[in-house]
Amino acid sequence: MKTEIAADFYNNAGVLKEDAPFSERSTMLINRIRSYCEELIFTNAKILEIGCGNGRYSFAFEKMGAISTGIDCADTVIEYARDFAKQINSTSTFIMGDALDMPFMDKAFDIVFLVGNTIVEFSYDDIDKLCEQSRRVLKQTGVFCVAMNDMFIHWNGKHHDINNYSYESGQILSNYTIPGQGTYPYHAHFWTVAMAKCIFKRHFRQIDIKQTDEKRFWIECRL
Ligand SMILES: C[S@@+](CC[C@H](N)C(=O)[O-])C[C@H]1O[C@@H](n2cnc3c(N)ncnc32)[C@H](O)[C@@H]1O
Repeated sequence: MKTEIAADFYNNAGVLKEDAPFSERSTMLINRIRSYCEELIFTNAKILEIGCGNGRYSFAFEKMGAISTGIDCADTVIEYARDFAKQINSTSTFIMGDALDMPFMDKAFDIVFLVGNTIVEFSYDDIDKLCEQSRRVLKQTGVFCVAMNDMFIHWNGKHHDINNYSYESGQILSNYTIPGQGTYPYHAHFWTVAMAKCIFKRHFRQIDIKQTDEKRFWIECRL
């Protein structure tokens, strides 16, 4: 999704109570990838979460011992995450910015995470840019980690919204109604693991893919 459209959509969507950091639902989502994260995160590891939203994963990474930084293009969620961090005396920091042009120094992070199927926000060209940026901000020993759904498996080869799918861009155009606020465009992109791997391979030397359940995957990319 284009950065301004994403920011507009997520600013309007705000943060649902059930999606707040440490809520039952957030804990369930983090538990899905916990063992993979715990294997990589060491004490004081500098981690970056791209598209961090309200920070639920970044706060969980902090609890695992990391020094977390989250970046997101929507100011509502970044402000929410900053307020939440203050309330719980967290050391996590949250930056409003574009993942395609990140305001971080070269080699600043041990791990970059793109989790919660956030890959669907990005077009194929944009993931190329995002990989370039992730590579730049990672230390030589760093890891780029992606948790994503394979949408072909997810939909069993079918999708009810097929008329809104563009075979040229891979975008699936939808309108989402946010209760009490209005209807906003939402453009997800169709991603499979094979497509992602094809792009990751251009930027990273080693790609390890694990199928975590029927439709979900954990991918570690190393320089
Ligand atoms: C599906 S939400 C996931 C949020 C969070 N990872 C989670 O699972 O709770 C995707 C997030 O990516 C952010 N996003 C989309 N495009 C972005 C971009 N170009 N740069 C930074 N953030 C972006 C959106 O604002 C949104 O908060």
